Amino acid sequence: MKRYLSLLLLVFTGIFFNFSFVLADAVKGQAVFNNTKVGNCKSCHDTGDKKKVGPGLKGITDRASKEWLAKWLEDTQAVWDANDSYTQDLKKRVKKEGKPKSAHKTPVKLTAEQITDVIDYLATLK
Ligand code: HEC
Repeated sequence: MKRYLSLLLLVFTGIFFNFSFVLADAVKGQAVFNNTKVGNCKSCHDTGDKKKVGPGLKGITDRASKEWLAKWLEDTQAVWDANDSYTQDLKKRVKKEGKPKSAHKTPVKLTAEQITDVIDYLATLK
C-alpha cells in the first residue's frame, strides 16, 4: 500500500512539473510574440479574431497542427511553396491564392526553442 502511495505521489509531481513547464514556456513564448525585435508577431497579428496584417490567431492551435505551425515559423516560404491542404486553405482565407510569396516574416530567424515556446503561447489563445 505504501509503495502505491509513493508511486501515486511520483506521478502527480510529474504531472505538476510538466504543467508548470508548459506554462513557463508559454510565458517565454508571449515575450517572443510581443518583442518587436524578435518575433514581432503582435505588430501583424491580433490575439483575438481581428484581422491585422495577418489573420487573428485566436484558436489557431485548433485549426492548424503543431507540426504545421512549427514548419511555418521555421521556414515560411517552404511551407508556402509546398502548398499542403492547410496552406491552400490559408491562402484562400487571405485571398493570396496566386501569390508566389508569403507576407509573414519575423525580424530574426527564431530558434527551435523559441518556436516551441511561441506555439505553447498560441495554444493559450482560446
Ligand atoms: C510582417 C507581418 C507579420 C509578422 C511580423 C508575423 N506574421 Fe504571421 N502572418 C502574416 C501574414 C500576412 C499572414 C498570412 C499569410 C501570408 O500572407 O503570408 C500570416 C500568417 C500566419 C499564420 C497562419 C494563420 C492562419 O490563420 O492559418 C500564423 C500561425 C502566423 N502567421 C503566426 C505568426 C507568429 C507566431 C509570428 C511571430 C513569431 C508572426 N506570425 C509574425 C504576417 C506576419
